Amino acid sequence: MARPTIERPDFGGPFPEHLAIIMDGNGRWAREQGLRRVLGHSEGVHSVREITTECARMGVKSLTLYAFSVENFKRPKAEVGFLMRLLAKFLVDERPTLMNNGVRLRAIGRLDELPKNALAALRETERLTERNDGMLLRLALAYGARAELADGLRRFAREVAEGRVRAEDIHDETLRDYLYDPHTPDPDLLIRTAGELRISNFLLWQISYSEIYVAKECWPQFRRPQLLAALEDYARRVRKFGGLVNDAPAPRSDSARPGLPAR
Ligand code: IPE
Ligand code: IPE
Ligand code: MG
Repeated sequence: MARPTIERPDFGGPFPEHLAIIMDGNGRWAREQGLRRVLGHSEGVHSVREITTECARMGVKSLTLYAFSVENFKRPKAEVGFLMRLLAKFLVDERPTLMNNGVRLRAIGRLDELPKNALAALRETERLTERNDGMLLRLALAYGARAELADGLRRFAREVAEGRVRAEDIHDETLRDYLYDPHTPDPDLLIRTAGELRISNFLLWQISYSEIYVAKECWPQFRRPQLLAALEDYARRVRKFGGLVNDAPAPRSDSARPGLPAR
């Protein structure tokens, strides 16, 4: 079974096991080149290939790419049709690259909303790659975090009604079991390209403690150097998960006394 030699860059700090990316700015990139918007999506496929291959070679365990949101169905029919044809072609064309790099592909989202041929290509690529033991590539397709939570809650409510789950058994982690892919740990690092400072309905539950990095480059320009810049930045982050880090400076004695305002 193909498996790339792992060459992890060392920036002297932590390295993300799960990387999630909001691939934004295809349309803007195309417009800047004087091209039609949709040609930005075609160009973006080259970035998907390069980033997937690089992540697999660097030993990233899971890579989740936001490729098409439920809200993206609101776009003009011609653009949605173009994206769906591009997706179906991508899922066929990339099979050798995925196999050569030991990548397992899986999708999350309301997949039954995809056109039949795209869904068939997806199922076949998932089947062909399911025994690869390298990186997991998750494509978020017809995905929305609110849709994911609604779908999960609907299933949960049904199980409560059938008496299979009791309200008293609900705890912080319970909802995870009702998400699309409960077994993949939460993203450590979330990257958004094209400079936008928003989440756009991506993995709302799972990114509670993810580190966020925004790249100014549009997705078609996001390649290995830009990925390395994000990873270098992540290596300097201190993740506290609400706790304290051991080497934090001790508070001054007067500001530590209860009831006294800190100076
Ligand atoms: C991201 O690029 C791809 C999808 C959302 C499908 P956009 O198409 O959103 O590009 P901009 O943001 O309009 O430049
Ligand atoms: C987010 O980008 C969705 C994907 C990258 C697939 P959008 O371009 O749809 O997000 P908004 O509309 O700018 O928030
Ligand atoms: Mg956009």
